Amino acid sequence: MANNKVDIFDTTLRDGEQVPGCKLNTKEKIELALQLEALGVDIIEAGFPISSPGDFESVNEISKIIKNASVCGLSRAVQKDIETAAEALKYATRPRIHTGIGTSDIHIKGKFNSNREDILQRAVQCVKWARNFVDDVEFYAEDAGRTDNDYLARVVEAVIDAGATVVNIPDTTGYCLPHQYGEKIAYLINNVPNVDKAKLSCHCHNDLGLATANSIAGVIAGARQIECTINGLGERAGNTSLEEVVMVLQQHKDLGFYTNVNTKQLNPMSRLVSDTMRMPVQPNKAIVGANAFSHSSGIHQDGFLKSAITYEIIDPVEVGADTSKIVLTARSGRSALAFRLKNLGYEFNRNAVDALYEKFLQVADEKKEVMDEDLHVMAQQFEAVTV
Ligand code: KIV
Ligand code: ZN
Repeated sequence: MANNKVDIFDTTLRDGEQVPGCKLNTKEKIELALQLEALGVDIIEAGFPISSPGDFESVNEISKIIKNASVCGLSRAVQKDIETAAEALKYATRPRIHTGIGTSDIHIKGKFNSNREDILQRAVQCVKWARNFVDDVEFYAEDAGRTDNDYLARVVEAVIDAGATVVNIPDTTGYCLPHQYGEKIAYLINNVPNVDKAKLSCHCHNDLGLATANSIAGVIAGARQIECTINGLGERAGNTSLEEVVMVLQQHKDLGFYTNVNTKQLNPMSRLVSDTMRMPVQPNKAIVGANAFSHSSGIHQDGFLKSAITYEIIDPVEVGADTSKIVLTARSGRSALAFRLKNLGYEFNRNAVDALYEKFLQVADEKKEVMDEDLHVMAQQFEAVTV
């Protein structure tokens, strides 16, 4: 099992917090960091210390209180960034500096007006600087998703030689297809001679809605760390959703991987992040959306009420969600109506339910959802007529 542990690197407080409107103050970041540690993540990326005095303070304070997880600070491949990250992390029990540079030709030319050899030297240099301060250095090859594999392999080999313990292969722009991202990781595993000296990490953005699929493809191909955020928050269309990758690995035990995340905390954690960042979760979001365990069509409700596993692959208890819901709409059937009436204390025989169902459909066609108060009115009117 040892080689099948997948480290969960949470970047809600860094990549997630970059989302417009999601900025957090130090007190909020500390509260979330404590909950992330309780959730069981392995690494907390607490911020980007050089970016502002407030973020420096957040990383510094989080370093003082987090004891089990590694605390990580982001930097560019710039000496001052790395020194500042090291200073912010100085109290951490397990400090990690995350440093790196763009490696795709698009970044090398468009951002740095440079060339591959120069960027390779800068990559090596930044890892060496960081290793002067901490033993745990993660290098990111920004835009690795669009980086030529031969060149990427040279960079990965060189930064591992320079002392990187983890090498992050970000699909920064969310461009890769799952098989392409998996092949990229497999290429590195097969072509970087010293790859066994470091861990490869997936950091996939969601611009094409493929972040979760790409991260899982990366793990299947040999990566052993996933970078992700609660509720999938992150730049643009977001980052990989922590709750999704954790539950994919848990549901597909056949893959043979595991994480240390306590899945029963996933929904409480999602709500805490949503409330603290004042960023609602879309109702149809997998695992943590309000509708993730709601059944509304008659066919599904009938099956679910006979046997939950007909329409649910996850028991909501496993992810700390409220119980499954039978929602009543104009698409609902008689079984669902009888079930909800029974929950409200009304026991009707089949003929009575049939009669009530006609009335129910009239109400349901007028409203988006039929609520308990509507059912009480219907049931009481029916009882009054039939007594
Ligand atoms: O998306 C990205 O490439 C990043 C890096 C800074 C790791 O967030
Ligand atoms: Zn990112």
